[in-house]
Amino acid sequence: KSYRVAILGATGAVGAELLDLLASRNLPVADLKLLASSRSAGKSLQFQGENIVVESVSDRSFNNIDIVLASAGGSTSKAWAAKAVASGAVVIDNSSAFRMEPRVPLVVPEVNPQAAASHQGIIANPNCTTILMTVAVWPLHQVKRVQRIVAATYQSASGAGARAMEEVKIQAQAILNGETPTAEVLPYPLAFNLFPHNSPINELGYCEEEMKMVNETRKIFDDQNIRVTATCVRVPVLRAHSEAINLEFETPMSVQEAKEILSKAPGVQIVEDWKANYFPMPIEATGRDPVLVGRIRQDISHSHSLELWICGDQIRKGAALNAVQIAELLIKNDWLQPTSGNQQPVTIVNS
Ligand code: A2P
Repeated sequence: KSYRVAILGATGAVGAELLDLLASRNLPVADLKLLASSRSAGKSLQFQGENIVVESVSDRSFNNIDIVLASAGGSTSKAWAAKAVASGAVVIDNSSAFRMEPRVPLVVPEVNPQAAASHQGIIANPNCTTILMTVAVWPLHQVKRVQRIVAATYQSASGAGARAMEEVKIQAQAILNGETPTAEVLPYPLAFNLFPHNSPINELGYCEEEMKMVNETRKIFDDQNIRVTATCVRVPVLRAHSEAINLEFETPMSVQEAKEILSKAPGVQIVEDWKANYFPMPIEATGRDPVLVGRIRQDISHSHSLELWICGDQIRKGAALNAVQIAELLIKNDWLQPTSGNQQPVTIVNS
């Protein structure tokens, strides 16, 4: 059996990666519809050697579509997801629009695949930094409970979209030319600079991106007691996010034990050469599927804590790949139809 798929936001950074992943992985695509705003209508994009014309999303866009991979921002998802579901499609939504809705599963296939079974038409793809963190932390949390996570992120321009990536290059060029860089997409010049993540700040002083890591991790782990705090920072890296993660366990976890667990964990690759001071780097995570984990060490300030350093491609595992893996999970387990609870054994899809 093959499926009719639509990409909403096909012309964006994540959209391009979705096209690439649909072509390179074995998702049985019978028909692919590319949707974006009216600005892009008429453009054509390549899929498996064929040109497909991008259409402006409309009421008719979702007729006869089985799976919608949406990556066009929260307001676009809010405007179209219900219409797509009413037309009989399952929406795998990359925006933050529905993530915290109780009836919408928030899924990282390596962590909580079973949650996808009980969707009611919409499945949410978590925030990119949260996906990368949960892939690395979940296998450890399974063996010895993690009580508290303290994270600092180093987030690339790609998280702000394709235009932000372009802007960083232009800013860098301006600086090299001795000019003063300007910022339009990003709030401040990012080239040769960094700034705390510019999402809205709440009454506690946490920005939205930081609160996503707190709240989404709890939902994905199905653990309302896990304590999470984060400082999110945008750095002048084009693509792939990095995170310094401190984990406080209920009982001590040795470095050796953590390495053994992570070496077998799905979606994780340990990258460590202590003699060469070689650890995960965004340029090496770029374009790759696994979350790279390194600098796994005992926290000298706390006997129950470990330090990790991770890098992962924000557009791939942090967005498009996770969404495609969710689609694969639905197909393999025959979970495309909305249901109020499917308790069949799950087939886990590894990245
Ligand atoms: P368009 O290229 O027509 O603006 P990125 O995250 O890289 O900025 O990409 C955002 C994606 O979301 C693009 O494909 C963009 O299409 C799409 N998009 C943005 N706003 C809308 C909208 N109102 N309706 C449909 N697609 C939208």
